[in-house]
Amino acid sequence: MLARKLNDLKKSFLLSKTEILDIAKNFKMEMSKGLTGTSSLKMLRTFLKTPLGKEKGQYLAIDFGGTNIRIQLVELLGNGSFQTKETISFRLKDLEVGYDLTAEQTTATELFDFIVTNLKTLLKEKKPYALGHTFSFPCHQISVDRAVLLKWTKEIKTAGVEGREITDLLEKALVRQQLYQINPVAILNDTTAILLTASYSDLRADIGSICGTGHNTCYREPYEPLTRKPMIINMESGNFNGFPRTIYDMVLDQASEKPGQQFLEKAVSGHYVGEIARHIILELVEQGLLFRGQNYPELLPYSVQAQHLAHFLQDQTPELQNISQWLARTWQIQYTSAEERAALQTIASLVTTRSAQLAAATYAGILLHIDPHFQSEHVIGVDGSMFEKMPAYMDTIHKILQNLYQDKINHVRLRLIKDGSSVGAAIAAATCLETD
Ligand code: GLC
Repeated sequence: MLARKLNDLKKSFLLSKTEILDIAKNFKMEMSKGLTGTSSLKMLRTFLKTPLGKEKGQYLAIDFGGTNIRIQLVELLGNGSFQTKETISFRLKDLEVGYDLTAEQTTATELFDFIVTNLKTLLKEKKPYALGHTFSFPCHQISVDRAVLLKWTKEIKTAGVEGREITDLLEKALVRQQLYQINPVAILNDTTAILLTASYSDLRADIGSICGTGHNTCYREPYEPLTRKPMIINMESGNFNGFPRTIYDMVLDQASEKPGQQFLEKAVSGHYVGEIARHIILELVEQGLLFRGQNYPELLPYSVQAQHLAHFLQDQTPELQNISQWLARTWQIQYTSAEERAALQTIASLVTTRSAQLAAATYAGILLHIDPHFQSEHVIGVDGSMFEKMPAYMDTIHKILQNLYQDKINHVRLRLIKDGSSVGAAIAAATCLETD
């Protein structure tokens, strides 16, 4: 019974080569549609210049990616490399300490004052600094330094920020704290920051992506229709919907903050993969296929996380003893058969493999769009916990691209770009100060 159920799950989760190619073609179509009109991809312009790798100097970088914020002083060394001089990280929400700047009762002023108060602690001297701000939410970019937040994602709800120009909110907070010497010159998405960081040391880089808590990709468009020039486009690809969804995706979506939106992100990103697995596990429990006769805890929404799936996948012991210990420790389930533990490992593998397959399909779609005959070399820079830490993830993406494009794949490299979100903000600031 359990084996049959797992087989059915395999059929609904794993994508065949033909399906992956179809998704890639759908993605390519959505890109073209979105460049000139509307599609599930927002195709947001960035106006940023590609760095040459020679940019130098010290810059402040804010990395506002979710409830964790990191501020760094980054020194660009001018030879494609950089050094981080200072770092502070802080949380926008700490219920134990008793504050939550992501709640709808909080105002934009309170949020940005909190960020600037923290920034102040990093400044050792009163020197002028140009600042780059990686703000990883869908924004309508007006210019390199001005962007209007379209809508919050990642469960943030702070009032009075949606529809506002973000640099203006930051500048006013800087003025309130008399930090006149800090000059915000660039605001960008984290995917763009990854691409800039990859490009800083390798001019072949033309795709930047995040496979972490969220999921999104940007790329260098050879011909942006409005400016008729090359431009980096933030696709907000997490909202792509041209792929087959399972019943578990639908249940997850209905119970989520924003039903009907961010379908790809809900299938790919670290925030959601554990939740998909939780729905599957609960179904198997209800069907009497898992944990029969055992007391097990109520598995609350989002209590199964990507890191747990990674832990299941890492267990290479013959009887899956690590999973067994984990179950006893975390869910107080003392007795499981090896078959049940293998089922948990299979579920983790199905959900994370599909995530990698979908991400790979979108990369293939972008390559089809920018270079249909594979005439140039490409580097895809990726950061995020799924890409970096989920067992077999990077390898699966690589194998899919290889399988789709055979020997032409030698033209494509996947690179982990660690810390690209804040370094990219510094690079953006540097390119904004360059005169042509
Ligand atoms: C969400 C945001 C997007 C960001 C991604 C990764 O999808 O909407 O802007 O790039 O998360 O952090």
